[in-house]
Amino acid sequence: MTLSSFGDKFTRKTGILELMEDLAEAAAFPADASGGPLCMLGGGNPARIPEVERVWRSRMGALLADEAGFGRLVGAYDSADGMSAFRSSLASLFKKEYGWEVGPENVCVTNGSQIAVWYLLNLLSGPDAKGRRRRILFPLMPEYVGYADQAVHEDVFVSCKPRIELSGDFHFKYYADLEGAEAVLRSEPIGGILVSRPTNPSGNVLTDAEVARLAALAARYDVPLITDNAYGLPFPGIVFTEAAPYWDPSIVLSMSLSKIGLPSTRTGIIVARKEIIAALSATNAIASLATGTIGQAIAEPLIASGEILDLSRNAVKPYYLAKRDKALSLMRSLFAGMPIRVHQSEGAIFMWLWFDGLPIDSRELYRRLKARSVMVLSGDYFSFGSFADGTSCSAWDHPRRCIRINYSSPDDQVERGLSIIAEEARKAYGEKPR
Ligand SMILES: Cc1ncc(COP(=O)(O)O)c(C=O)c1O
Repeated sequence: MTLSSFGDKFTRKTGILELMEDLAEAAAFPADASGGPLCMLGGGNPARIPEVERVWRSRMGALLADEAGFGRLVGAYDSADGMSAFRSSLASLFKKEYGWEVGPENVCVTNGSQIAVWYLLNLLSGPDAKGRRRRILFPLMPEYVGYADQAVHEDVFVSCKPRIELSGDFHFKYYADLEGAEAVLRSEPIGGILVSRPTNPSGNVLTDAEVARLAALAARYDVPLITDNAYGLPFPGIVFTEAAPYWDPSIVLSMSLSKIGLPSTRTGIIVARKEIIAALSATNAIASLATGTIGQAIAEPLIASGEILDLSRNAVKPYYLAKRDKALSLMRSLFAGMPIRVHQSEGAIFMWLWFDGLPIDSRELYRRLKARSVMVLSGDYFSFGSFADGTSCSAWDHPRRCIRINYSSPDDQVERGLSIIAEEARKAYGEKPR
């Protein structure tokens, strides 16, 4: 078999593939060779929150009990832009909560938000009909590993290095280089700007001022600003700062039901101006025919009634906040005496650990941890594309001294995993640089 260049690109060993393989391995072998638990701090699975799971089970029960409705639900293809009741309820929720001027025509539902971003990146990057090549701008690297290999065309990602601000002796925070972003917009054709907010991997939440300036840039240069809100407000609501959600017609807001406990229903949501929604649903029809309805049917009544907001505020957010606080205080004591810093944990289900000056890189640390049944993600995967000066983001040393951990695993796994991370880091700090 000879693969096309598309085939070559999409079958490479990538970070996202490694992440999904680690998830499959963890599911198949939940204990390590010595019988100890595998500490799954990699991957992007949300926590299983009993209170939330009970709600989804009960909704599933109601769907199963509805004889006529159930047949319609599973026995027919729905449309390529999603269920109309789901889209209407969502639009009403956004209007009521935030005053956004949106209707169902501004909402498209896809089989997960991952594929929605895939569509968007490829609709907006690469050569256009006039042969002009457009790139996608990331105003703040490191970014979500799941974007890194999504573009069909090569070399279409241009990124800005963040300003790194240290806070106290244990934290740091990234700030977007907005002047750098504008310089890129001035100097070359850009098809879209992309940020995740809260950010996977760092747990950063772009400030309201940063978002306002990015939205103004997007409007001025007529380039959509894709804001990936997979962890954000109003649901799942895993945001620990005061940052407000934002939408205007220059924004393409990407959302998901995954992190509120329904990842396997593959329900992604895009809120955007009508022409973008039309482009997405046309692409979805070609690639997927229709969008799966189960997740939409499970969640729709909670969206219509607003209960999804209570679930997010009263069950999801407090659950993650408690786990975050526990993990942070554990890390403070375990990492004492080592130059390790944690990015301010402002949202999402991850922590981003910076092993400043570590003599080994994050791939080697990943390998050593994996050998001890602790799964994490190596930081270099979250630095991709090239910077505006043409240098490769993968040559940047900072992310190669970082790892991402998912702190939403059961407490015993997080505790054991963090102590093994501390042991391996202490050992590595004692070694000569490689
Ligand atoms: C930032 C971000 N965007 C999108 C996704 C994909 O989510 P979905 O399950 O909706 O495809 C993830 C998954 O982890 C994510 O972290």
